[in-house]
Amino acid sequence: MKNIDWGNLGFGYMKTDFNIRCEFNNSTWGELEVHESEYLNLHMAATSLHYGQESFEGLKAFRGKDGKIRIFRMKDNALRMQDSSEGTMMAKVPVEIFEEAVLKAVKLNERFVPPYESGASLYIRPLLIGSGPQVGVKPATEYLFVVFVTPVGPYFKGGFQTTPFVIMREYDRSAPLGMGKYKVGGNYAASLVAGQKAHELGYSAVFYLDAKEKKYIDECGAANFFGIKDNTYITPKSSSILPSITNKSLMVLAEELGLKVERRAIPVEELATFEEAGACGTAAVISPIERIDDYDEKKSYIFSNDGKPGPFCDKLYHKLRGIQYGDEPDTHGWVTVIE
Ligand code: PLP
Ligand code: COI
Repeated sequence: MKNIDWGNLGFGYMKTDFNIRCEFNNSTWGELEVHESEYLNLHMAATSLHYGQESFEGLKAFRGKDGKIRIFRMKDNALRMQDSSEGTMMAKVPVEIFEEAVLKAVKLNERFVPPYESGASLYIRPLLIGSGPQVGVKPATEYLFVVFVTPVGPYFKGGFQTTPFVIMREYDRSAPLGMGKYKVGGNYAASLVAGQKAHELGYSAVFYLDAKEKKYIDECGAANFFGIKDNTYITPKSSSILPSITNKSLMVLAEELGLKVERRAIPVEELATFEEAGACGTAAVISPIERIDDYDEKKSYIFSNDGKPGPFCDKLYHKLRGIQYGDEPDTHGWVTVIE
């Protein structure tokens, strides 16, 4: 086993042994290839470089107490990548190729899957790019699908701890009829300036409102939002947010915990009424929100006075982690166990 300080991993890139690639040429997907190099040999006129024809995914593999590795909701990520292909006119990666590539990337890099006790996991990053050349604004005819993995710790410092977020109306992440619902690189480029400013001001991430009216809640940086009040789990319905697979899972688990679940437009003032709030995503898991400061209106919405996560955030977090690590039964067929 490699000498890695598993317990102190951040959320960053670490070289692993192999990555998996598959090329789309002449209208067909080829065979999976195993590569050791971290570099791609790419045409300088590739559409991914000029016109943003690219999408990526993020999912995780976990090592259980039993030593087995479990991958969470892989098919959902495959289907979401297909949606991103529709949004960007890229070739769709068939679900079987996506799943086979993910499984192969995890198995071949097994020594990088963190041990159960560390609380860390293996982040899996599928990537699809337009690799063929175009100079006119047109979709490529060639594509490259890559899957690499890297061991990670918590996305926000401190792991399962409350953190502050900030509303800043001078930046938008995505337009109502734009690309926000797809996992494409341009959305993240569009969030960098605002994200940097939020960090400099001491916040974990920007809390985005809808771009058109700035009236409703969209999402929290690279994570979805949920609030809890009156025994109800409430999460935004919006055309400009990424449909989070974690959020979809939490809605099911919230119902099982006896909460009502509502997916609807949430006016920003409603923040004042939530008993608990959280940011959720593959990387963030559940990151309970300490407070949200409205930078423009000089107002704060406070969810935790003692810095501790609320009781429902706590229950949901442990339930989800339990399923992912194999401590709780997988009653929804979310987990693929690698024997
Ligand atoms: N929102 C954005 C913008 C994201 O990048 C992500 C991460 O993938 C999420 C939400 C959470 O989605 P998921 O739970 O599928 O990881
Ligand atoms: C996720 O996978 O949850 C993310 O959004 C991660 C981020 C690094 C893009």
